[in-house]
Amino acid sequence: MNILVIGSGGREHAIVHKIKQDGIKNIYCAPGNAGIEELAQCVPIKIDDIDGLLRFAEEKKIYLTIVGPELPLNEGIVDAFHEKGLTIFGPSKQAAMLESSKSFAKKLMKKYGIPTPAFEVFTSPEEAIDYAGTISYPAVIKADGLASGKGVIIVHELSQAISTIKDIMENRVFGDAGKTMLVEDCISGVESSYFVLSNGSSCINVASARDYKRLMDNNDGPNTGGMGSLSPSDKLTPELEKKIADRIISPLMNALNKEGIMYRGVIYIGLMISNNEPSVLEFNVRFGDPETQAILPRIESDLVGVLTDSAKGKPFSDSIKLRQESAVCVVMASRGYPVHPQTGDTIEGLRDASGKDVFIFHAGTKNEKGIIKTAGGRVLGITAIGDNIKAARQKAYRSVGKIVFEGSQYRRDIGL
Ligand code: GLY
Repeated sequence: MNILVIGSGGREHAIVHKIKQDGIKNIYCAPGNAGIEELAQCVPIKIDDIDGLLRFAEEKKIYLTIVGPELPLNEGIVDAFHEKGLTIFGPSKQAAMLESSKSFAKKLMKKYGIPTPAFEVFTSPEEAIDYAGTISYPAVIKADGLASGKGVIIVHELSQAISTIKDIMENRVFGDAGKTMLVEDCISGVESSYFVLSNGSSCINVASARDYKRLMDNNDGPNTGGMGSLSPSDKLTPELEKKIADRIISPLMNALNKEGIMYRGVIYIGLMISNNEPSVLEFNVRFGDPETQAILPRIESDLVGVLTDSAKGKPFSDSIKLRQESAVCVVMASRGYPVHPQTGDTIEGLRDASGKDVFIFHAGTKNEKGIIKTAGGRVLGITAIGDNIKAARQKAYRSVGKIVFEGSQYRRDIGL
């Protein structure tokens, strides 16, 4: 059975690692990284080269293609593979609008009564600025389209709102993602995320998680792609999980069905929990990074089986069984990340850092003649499993302490 994984981050390393553990021998990854190439054959095809990926999948008779990042989903890779009769895990371009158009997702939630902060949508900067003069602060301004995780900005006063609106809609700092823009109420609480798999007609739970978006301890510093994660989320009680199932997942499946949208793939629900009530901040149409690095090592079930059920629209053969322990993932980033990440530094200590229930997931790494070097902003994600979060974080940080590269940055408070 040949499997193709698309992507090059820690999320994709965690996917490749899990399916290798499940016994899959022939794994390809496009384009992969230095850690992935120890488990899979990496092929230098870019994630948005849909024709190249399609040709490769046909040539290698790929049984299942697993898409990691959102970009190829938004470019329609699933539709292109389906036209050729290939099996691919992920939503169609239309269904991927849950992530690629925030206004689409918010309007859907409003129409079907799914709890989400109040919002207005704008296509003209003048109207957005007029509206900004009428609201209270802080508020949230969002570019409608994909902006590499940078398109959500919390503004604290009118002048900041005006400059942000101009940046997004006039200066187009996020390109066409800023043709349309949203202004949203800023709600406070604790964030968590929840992952479910859909086969187009029903869904099964994967797991809950939390990620740490800011660069520095105590949630200081700039936003990043994610500096750490844990699973399960320590913020979700069984009561809250029931509310999420009844008030969010079930109405969302109903909404997709009523709107004629066939959603196959993972749905990543970004939540804010305020006063014990869950509210949806965003949907994503792929696994989270670095949440996946904390979730997948907990999964005992066969991953390829459930992903294939989802991709083919078949009834799920089983629910997903999870280890009951906790997982904590600490991300190590390169110097200068997230503004100007420096690359080319030698990484030492990787072998010593491994151990039982410790997983070293590579992200921005490359192998130069047997020497592993930094090659991106987020370099590694070190996941450990322990009886509880405290034990898992202690184990993860013991391993982090053994890994050395010039200017490495990591948070000391993941899981605290
Ligand atoms: N951890 C945030 C994301 O994957 O979008």
